[in-house]
Amino acid sequence: MTTLQIIGGGKMGEALARGLVARGRAPVHVVEPTPERRAVLDTIEGVTSGDEPLPGVDAVIAVKPDVVPAVLDPLARAGVTRVLSIAAGVRTAAIESHLPPTTRVVRAMPNTPALVGEGAAAIAPGARADAADLDWAESVLGAVGLVVRVDEDDLDAVTGLSGSGPAYVFLLAEALVAAGVAEGLDPAVADTLTRQTLLGAATLLSRTGEDPAVLRRNVTSPGGTTAAGLAVFEEADLRGLVARVVAAATARSRELGR
Ligand SMILES: NC(=O)c1ccc[n+]([C@@H]2O[C@H](COP(=O)([O-])OP(=O)(O)OC[C@H]3O[C@@H](n4cnc5c(N)ncnc54)[C@H](OP(=O)(O)O)[C@@H]3O)[C@@H](O)[C@H]2O)c1
Repeated sequence: MTTLQIIGGGKMGEALARGLVARGRAPVHVVEPTPERRAVLDTIEGVTSGDEPLPGVDAVIAVKPDVVPAVLDPLARAGVTRVLSIAAGVRTAAIESHLPPTTRVVRAMPNTPALVGEGAAAIAPGARADAADLDWAESVLGAVGLVVRVDEDDLDAVTGLSGSGPAYVFLLAEALVAAGVAEGLDPAVADTLTRQTLLGAATLLSRTGEDPAVLRRNVTSPGGTTAAGLAVFEEADLRGLVARVVAAATARSRELGR
């Protein structure tokens, strides 16, 4: 029996559906208006698709924020009592206002590494959601990565940090490749070394759970090459720059959510 439906079979909806069936949560139903997308989704074992929500089945909303209001009335008509929205900037109160008072709403901010099962998501309860609803939301998003719990007001900062964070890392990757090439490396070599360096460093952070400052000191001999490089970052106030980057993205998230 289908116990979960995903409204919106785009990038995030498909990634969630794939992650959930891979974790034994089949069958998952995806509601998607475009026949071409439905044809793709139907090729995934354990996934079914259609163009109307199923009655009474818990729903994940994975459509663009401006489309959210349009999908809420059909969900209300279908008698859906539990909803997890991953739409950026759409507040739980706005979602609740379109649904019957018995419907519980949880909101999440995921990020794109969810597409490869390595997402970082934060979830926050709406006014009527309880601990069991948060457990449910965590088990859904846990299929595509790690999940933390926050208050809804913190979701803007989450957006500024982990929501937009992958793009910060991609920019650093671009800069590292260009810098390697500027120092005489073949572009393909610089590209390969950059990708693996970021993966290796991220894996060390993740697997050891060690304080990043300790990991940094472990590879920084006094007077050595890494120290020479890091000194340039410190002179340029990288920490202050990153604080401004996250603050700007957080502020933009607040503006868009108004
Ligand atoms: N991608 C990310 O990294 C990321 C991160 C955090 C949050 N989010 C949030 O996740 C949500 C989905 O993002 P995405 O990147 O997956 O977008 P996307 O690829 O554009 O997917 C949205 C899907 O919803 C479909 N849709 C449109 N109207 C619909 C309706 N009335 N009923 C059901 N489905 C409908 C769209 O179909 P058509 O193409 O035919 O319109 C499309 O397939 C957004 O709200 C975004 O804010 C995404």
